[in-house]
Amino acid sequence: MAQYKLQINGRSYEADVEADTPLLWVLRDNLGLVGTKYGCGIAQCGACTVHLNGTAVRSCSLPVSAVGTKSVTTIEGLSSTGDHPVQRAWNEVDVAQCGYCQAGQIMSASALLAKNPHPTDEQIYTAMNGNICRCGTYHRIREAIQLASTKMK
Ligand code: FES
Repeated sequence: MAQYKLQINGRSYEADVEADTPLLWVLRDNLGLVGTKYGCGIAQCGACTVHLNGTAVRSCSLPVSAVGTKSVTTIEGLSSTGDHPVQRAWNEVDVAQCGYCQAGQIMSASALLAKNPHPTDEQIYTAMNGNICRCGTYHRIREAIQLASTKMK
């Protein structure tokens, strides 16, 4: 066990865990940040997506020892009031069905738009390709990203 100091959603946290513990489990089990979901555990579905220094990463496959001083943002920290342009667009388009994948979808979409506020359809497809939705909400996800893009002008 070792103690890790983590910067998450603008706050400092400490966790006593093994070095190879995936960040996902530290977030959920040690810190109570359960908005980030466990999907496949092998970085193939995107449900566990968080931002690491603004880049979308799969927290199920990222050892806590690899986080270092980088800042982590989870769905809880995207906006303190839930009104990030991507979240507002998601509500307007009514994207979610069962909802399980949606935190990861929103984190991938918000990372894309932070770097590229006006992506083409092709760029949206490429950025979101690793986020699986078993309910098939892909068309609404794409529509919401396009709507969020207009809100970010
Ligand atoms: Fe159900 Fe995406 S909304 S898995």
